[in-house]
Amino acid sequence: MKVLIFNGGPRRKGATAEVLHRIETALKDSGVEVEFFDLGNIEMSHCTGCCSCYRTGVCYLQDDAEILSQKIGEADGIVMGSPTYASNVSGLMKDFIDRGHFVIEQLLTGKPCITVVTGENYGNRSARKVLDNLVLYSGGKLCDRILLKIPFNGISGMEKEVSGKIRKASVRMIRELRGKKKHPVQCIFHSIIYYLGIRPFVMKKGEVYSGVIRKWKERGIL
Ligand SMILES: Cc1cc2nc3c(=O)[nH]c(=O)nc-3n(C[C@H](O)[C@H](O)[C@H](O)COP(=O)(O)O)c2cc1C
Repeated sequence: MKVLIFNGGPRRKGATAEVLHRIETALKDSGVEVEFFDLGNIEMSHCTGCCSCYRTGVCYLQDDAEILSQKIGEADGIVMGSPTYASNVSGLMKDFIDRGHFVIEQLLTGKPCITVVTGENYGNRSARKVLDNLVLYSGGKLCDRILLKIPFNGISGMEKEVSGKIRKASVRMIRELRGKKKHPVQCIFHSIIYYLGIRPFVMKKGEVYSGVIRKWKERGIL
């Protein structure tokens, strides 16, 4: 079982990173293999909007973002975390979302996922919605979501709340990695998005989306 963790916070020792590293430790302690990525450390250009990946199945920008997208396709579970920036996810996380082929390739199909959002005052729910929708629209199973309102200088003084949420989320992910919980409400929601929206749209486009269709076939979702 392999889980990938992505920190969208530019501060490698910030609150978001700390929460994510604690999830990493909890998962590792239960025998799960984990790889942790600080998005601020990877080589990642902005999406240029050329849409050639729809036809080819790969981005012409052969940087770390493209390699990580392939790794996500092969992983068993995903944890994505971001601080709130102006009521949204960080720019780093948004770049990664744009580059990651998540929704169009249904990259998270069947994978248990945890979202983590930290914020100091208002707007953190909007940021969380970005990550939660990304998971659900990409076919992932949202096994837990952690939202923390914390002071800028760290999580000290919130130890009980933070460790409780981390423990609960980690236990849920481990259980779902082993047992594949069904999540009927999420499944219905995703089916509406995929079967009524994404799939007919892609199939109608044909050749222009041939890279996406090939990936769906490889992944057994077509
Ligand atoms: C550019 C910037 C914009 C921010 N905007 C918000 C915001 O809209 N809402 C909020 O609650 N916190 C906001 N914050 C605070 C951070 O989200 C919060 O301190 C977060 O926990 C920092 O995470 P980190 O320690 O991982 O960097 C902002 C911080 C920065 C640097």
